[in-house]
Amino acid sequence: MSEPTIKVKRLAFVRVTAPEPAKAETFLAEFGLQLATRTDDAAYFRGTDPDPHCYVLSQGEAGVPSIAFEAESAADLEKVAALPGASPIEKLDEPGGGQVVRLRDPQGQPVEIVHGIAALEPIEPAPPVSYNMDGRRTREGELPAVRPGPSHVKRIGHLVLESADPVSVYRWYHEHLGLRKADELHLPDGRTQMLFASLDRGAEYVDHHVVGFQYALDEGARVQHVAFEVGNLDDLMAGHEHLKAKRRKSVWGVGRHRYGGQIFDYWANPWGVIHEHWTDTDLVNDQSVATDSDLMDMQDYWGPPPSVGFIVARWNWKAVKNLFTLAAGRLQAERRNRKAA
Ligand SMILES: [Fe+2]
Repeated sequence: MSEPTIKVKRLAFVRVTAPEPAKAETFLAEFGLQLATRTDDAAYFRGTDPDPHCYVLSQGEAGVPSIAFEAESAADLEKVAALPGASPIEKLDEPGGGQVVRLRDPQGQPVEIVHGIAALEPIEPAPPVSYNMDGRRTREGELPAVRPGPSHVKRIGHLVLESADPVSVYRWYHEHLGLRKADELHLPDGRTQMLFASLDRGAEYVDHHVVGFQYALDEGARVQHVAFEVGNLDDLMAGHEHLKAKRRKSVWGVGRHRYGGQIFDYWANPWGVIHEHWTDTDLVNDQSVATDSDLMDMQDYWGPPPSVGFIVARWNWKAVKNLFTLAAGRLQAERRNRKAA
């Protein structure tokens, strides 16, 4: 297979729109993102890592109108600008500066490839917690370093793109941005339900997935969720209790994913856009071997099943039909597994 146009360095930020930005900002503060800068049009949020802003909030109909990846070099921006339909290289007239090339993926999702945005000074992360577990004693004479309150978001980690044809969408990200299949799950009829893809940084270990390409039960196209790494398990759980106390809507979690390995916790912002906290991901590199599995045999290591609100973003007859097929497939698999046991 030919080399991709470029291999992106990381997921840089998401642009998120909300009908009432002040309400959205309250949610983000409770979620653990921190305001970096504000302009007339947008608020720029960051994690505790020194990366530039990872979340740009502005006023509009609820959604994720753009996602951005960082290019390795200015030369890579030129390569992307030569793609059909790409914008020329433009100056980013925003905090941190930098340059951008604007593209659209096959599902119509705007994608920005950015370079040269100024990094920020790191800010105090969640305190590291020592544990007296697994036969090891590392916390002697100390209290657990857990702070109640919002989780400490470190950085943006991944997002999931839903569409009617996740394989074609993945192919575009593979061919142009160098994303690499980590694992794939199939529906009972063989079609792809989820294709997890990581960055390709050669021998360097990276998160199990930077983008998940998922089959949308309603066959719509959207960013299904955006996900942020937090300090550690205690930090995630403290944040869970904080969001619960603020009466935010939990849509799935807490649990540990079978694919990706993260301890996860999903919440909806006031308009239903799903935001995930996670900690402790699996790491992969260019020697990792991708697997193909049957969704029906897949069980997370632990945790509750997803809520219907997590699985179905919008109701239509396709969503009803697909949900029914999935439920029937799950029952069949359970019966099969019971017989085999
Ligand atoms: Fe996720």
